[in-house]
Amino acid sequence: MYKLHDITAIEAATRSHLIQPWESISTLGEIVRPVITGSKNIYVLGDQGRKLIDGPAGMWCSQIGCGRKNIAEAMAAQAMHLSYNSPWYTTSSPAAHLAEKIANVTPGDLNHVFLTSGGSTAVDAALRLVQLYQNVRGKTDKNIVLARTGGYHGSTHLSAAMSGSPASRRNFDVDREPVSFLTEPNRLNLPAGVTEEGFCEFLLLELRNRIAELGADKIAAFIAEPVQASGGVIVPPDGYLKEVRQICRENDILYIPEEVVTAFGLCGAWFASEEVFGITPDTITFAKGVTSGYVPLVGFAVSDRILNEIAAAVYSNGYTYSGHPVACETGPKSMDILESEEILEHVRDIAPYFKSKLSQLKDMEIVKDVRAVGLLGAVECEVPGQPDIAIGAEIDRHCVELGLIVRPGRNMCVMSPPLIITRDQIDDMVGILREGILRASANHPN
Ligand SMILES: Cc1ncc(COP(=O)(O)O)c(C=O)c1O
Repeated sequence: MYKLHDITAIEAATRSHLIQPWESISTLGEIVRPVITGSKNIYVLGDQGRKLIDGPAGMWCSQIGCGRKNIAEAMAAQAMHLSYNSPWYTTSSPAAHLAEKIANVTPGDLNHVFLTSGGSTAVDAALRLVQLYQNVRGKTDKNIVLARTGGYHGSTHLSAAMSGSPASRRNFDVDREPVSFLTEPNRLNLPAGVTEEGFCEFLLLELRNRIAELGADKIAAFIAEPVQASGGVIVPPDGYLKEVRQICRENDILYIPEEVVTAFGLCGAWFASEEVFGITPDTITFAKGVTSGYVPLVGFAVSDRILNEIAAAVYSNGYTYSGHPVACETGPKSMDILESEEILEHVRDIAPYFKSKLSQLKDMEIVKDVRAVGLLGAVECEVPGQPDIAIGAEIDRHCVELGLIVRPGRNMCVMSPPLIITRDQIDDMVGILREGILRASANHPN
């Protein structure tokens, strides 16, 4: 075991043996990502123990903040008491308790929960349920899934097939899956002067036309993140999601809000679909926030209506770690903290401040757009006259030097800090971001 701060040894072992997500094979062993040595509250520790604000909360997941002793103790106690049980032929108190607790906060009649261990597998499992549903009802031609360009749904074959960004798909055999992509609701792609209502009408007309073109009898489901997260915090126009829900209902198309990112607090609600966007779906995915990132645990919830319609079927899909007792013990503890510390209320209270502080960055020439909802925000940049420069990574590098991690997209900085962040800490975060953007833009004078 390496000592906590033996950075050289950690880097050497990483270079020699570790393949990280989205690793470029051409530079494998050459470029090592920054070493994180610890975490506490809204901060992570870099090399030399340097404190950095965790702008993206890990990967949209450290909702209650890091280093909570009672969570660590609950996990340890559960590991001593029951470290594993097979969900294939047994159940456990933590799994049952967590399922009940989640069912109590899901929208509508989504009263049953399937558990797994990664957001991609939650999406995969939900899509397999959709296939089962359509096939068992005899609607075997109903197999196309409507997804959206710019959406991200994960790294299993099926979830990657639903992901719109070309980078998620390149060199994989995902194009053979029956998916049809609709335009992402990103206002920046529209001609100047188009109103919010006009944009919404355009998107809805496209959906109606696509259903007419493909045939409702061929379309199984519509999947979409309520707020397209990795795609750049794309907030849909008012009324769009509600109308999509209605169109899906009229055409017997299942609606899957993909809430791997937005569930459990980021938008100030347990689930954004119902409380923020007014939608009651058929199934819903959730992930990161459910354990605040302390341990992998994710899942989907499904409505009684869907289950009743396929009552005779076997859902032959499952994982060794579905309902893992240590992970499941963590979920309710993290939810208890969200409740007892009134963190969802705090998010609703502080969200306008977060948005207004980020929006102040628009006075910089390089900042093209700022988007935010809840504690989910993105600052999109473009070097004037040089739109091809991927400035996000440069901004991130400067911010890391200054004490902040941002999640760099190609040309944007995505922020979703731990939900316990205070106004003063938002000031610090946005102050560093401003300086990081200034330093990066100084490298690209007009
Ligand atoms: C909306 C969405 N769905 C699915 C996933 C995949 O989750 P995981 O990386 O845990 O498999 C992600 C990951 O960030 C995501 O943002």
